[in-house]
Amino acid sequence: MKILVTGGSGYIGSHTVHELLNAGHEVVVMDNLANSSEESLRRVAELTGKQAEFHQVDLLDPEGMKKLFRDTRPEAVIHFAGLKAVGESAEKPLWYYQTNVAGTLNLLYAMEEVDCKTIVFSSSATVYGEPEEMPLTEKINMDAQSCYGRTKEHIEDMLRDLGASDASWNIALLRYFNPVGAHESGRIGEDPAGIPNNLVPFIAQVAVGRREHLNVFGNDYPTVDGTGVRDYIHVVDLANGHLKALEYLASHGGLHTWNLGTGNGYSVLEVLHAFEKACGKELPYKIVDRRPGDVAVSYADPSSALADLGWSAERDIDTMVRDHWNWQKNNPNGYEA
Ligand code: NAD
Ligand code: UFG
Repeated sequence: MKILVTGGSGYIGSHTVHELLNAGHEVVVMDNLANSSEESLRRVAELTGKQAEFHQVDLLDPEGMKKLFRDTRPEAVIHFAGLKAVGESAEKPLWYYQTNVAGTLNLLYAMEEVDCKTIVFSSSATVYGEPEEMPLTEKINMDAQSCYGRTKEHIEDMLRDLGASDASWNIALLRYFNPVGAHESGRIGEDPAGIPNNLVPFIAQVAVGRREHLNVFGNDYPTVDGTGVRDYIHVVDLANGHLKALEYLASHGGLHTWNLGTGNGYSVLEVLHAFEKACGKELPYKIVDRRPGDVAVSYADPSSALADLGWSAERDIDTMVRDHWNWQKNNPNGYEA
C-alpha cells in the first residue's frame, strides 16, 4: 500500500516508517522538520535498504498540502505531525490549536480532494484526564486536563463527526500511553530538543553524563513507592500497532478507537532502577515537589486492541530501557553528532 506518514521523521514516525518499509509498503513522508531531522530517515534507509520519499511541507500550508496529495496520491495516511509538549501548550495555546487542530483540518481537506479516506491518528492517553477507575478503557469519557490534551480531543471529535457524515471514511484513533525505547540497532531513537520533559529521555541523559541528576516529581502518591506510575510502551511495539490498525481498516472501515499500552504500570523509581541495571551504574536522583497536573497512576486496558487487531505489546520494561540506553550511548547528542 502507498502510505503517507505526516511527522514521519520524528520519534514515533521514524520507527513506524521503518516497520512500514520492512513490511513492503511504499512510504511518503511529510514533515516541516520543526522537531526532527532528515538524518532519522537516512538511517531508516540504511537499516531497511529501502527509501521513503521525503517532502518538506508544513501542515499549516493548505495549498502545499493539497499539492502534496495531488502529486503523491497515497491510499492511506498515518498522522503523527504536531506539537506535543504539555507545559509549552499552556504557554502557547493558540500555536497548539493552530498546529494540531487547524493543521489536521488542512490535512483532511487535502485527503478529501484526492479521495484518500483512510487515516490513523496519534491520539494520547492524556485525553482521559484524571479518572478514578483503572485500568483505562476506551469507554471512559474524554476529559483532558491540558491544552495539549484538549487539542487531541478536538481532533478526535472532528474525525468522529467526519466519519459520521460520510461512511466511506476509515478512521483509527490510537491512544498511546508512554512511548519509550528505540529500535534495537541503536541507530534511530528519541532526540528531544532542549531539556527533556519526559522521564526516560531525562534518565538517559543523566546516564550519558549530560545531566547531573534526575528530579523525581513527588514521592507521596498512593503508589507502590510513592512515585507516579505509568504504562510505558516500547516504540517498536507502538509502531507495529499502526500497521495492525491499517490492516484492520482495509477490511472493516468506519471509526475505531484503541488504547496502545501494555496494561502494566511502573513507578518512576522502578523505571530508574531498571535503567541502572541496563547501563550498569547508579544514577543520582533527588525527590522534589510534585509536577502540577500529574496524575498518580495511569495504565491501559489494552484488551480491545488485542481482540480487534490481534495486537499486544511484546517488549518488557527491561527491553525498553536497554534499547533506549543503547540508542543514547551510541548517540550521546542525538542525531547531531
Ligand atoms: P515528534 O515531535 O518526534 O514528531 C512529530 C513530528 O511532527 C516532528 O518530526 C515535527 O517536525 C513534525 N511537525 C511538527 N509541526 C509540524 C507542522 N506544522 N507541519 C509538519 N510537520 C510538523 O513527536 P512524537 O513523539 O514522534 O509524537 C508523534 C505524535 O504522537 C504526536 O502527534 C504526539 O502528540 C503523539 N503522541 C506522542 C506521545 C509521546 O509521549 N511521544 C504520547 C502520545 C501521543
Ligand atoms: N517524571 C519525573 N521526573 C522527570 C520527568 C517525569 O519524576 O524529570 C515523572 C512524572 O511525574 C510521571 C512520570 O515520570 O510520574 C512520567 O512522566 P512523563 O513526563 O514521562 O510522561 P507523562 O505521563 O506525564 O506524559 C506523557 C507525555 C504526554 C502524553 C502522556 C500520555 O508527555 O504527552 O504521556 O500519553 F499525553
